[in-house]
Amino acid sequence: MTRTAILSALIDEQRGLIAQLEHPSEVQHAGRRFWCGHLHGQDVVLALSRIGKVAAATTATALVEKFQVDRIVFTGVAGGLAPEVRVGDLVLATDFIQHDLDASPIVPRYEVPLYGRTRFAADATLNTHLLDAATGAFATLPQWLGADAVQRHALGQARIHQGLVASGDRFVSVLGESQRLQADLLAHGHTALAVEMEGAAVAQVCCDYGVPFAAIRTVSDRADATAHADFTQFVRDVASHYAEAVLARFLRLL
Ligand code: ADE
Repeated sequence: MTRTAILSALIDEQRGLIAQLEHPSEVQHAGRRFWCGHLHGQDVVLALSRIGKVAAATTATALVEKFQVDRIVFTGVAGGLAPEVRVGDLVLATDFIQHDLDASPIVPRYEVPLYGRTRFAADATLNTHLLDAATGAFATLPQWLGADAVQRHALGQARIHQGLVASGDRFVSVLGESQRLQADLLAHGHTALAVEMEGAAVAQVCCDYGVPFAAIRTVSDRADATAHADFTQFVRDVASHYAEAVLARFLRLL
């Protein structure tokens, strides 16, 4: 049987998955806790990416080297950048860019030195399954999240977007920064839907090892001055439940 790693950014997002794990065993490695077991018929390893690109790269490397996973799937939250990307929407990454990488003039801005590229693509097959899973989960949103939560967080109009995700070692919580980040990316031909702090790093590690990778993020905030308040409450109330609902369907599709 193949083995799937499920990476979460925060403990709130992971707790429900651990609770559902069959035959769980905990392994400590590289200062991290990894949970091995079975979930919805699949052999899985659950891990926290931790926050930021370096921490996420270490976790991804451990998943490949020590746990020999065949694929990595990331569920987490992100700040919405593009105007149509609202809190409560899902963003399925088609590819990833590091918005804070700049080795110019040695190589063009955003290009990863020695890789000759700026973007790392998500795996197309995993993305097809994630899209099916997310579409199915959205169709029954009030059933698993509760009608109250759907109304309170105005999730009735929630959508699934597909596109570029920008990663960097900054929690973007100032509108001016979010606008500058988008404008700079756009000036170099990149339209990013959302910002987070890990995806591009995990994508690069997965590219190095030839391991398929995909990520789906719940939009927890608009990467502006309200980002912090939105973020904490949203992860607790909504994002963790989204991750569970999408992954339950996704794992059955593998
Ligand atoms: N993850 C969720 N919201 C974010 C934000 N505003 N900036 C960076 N990472 C995030």
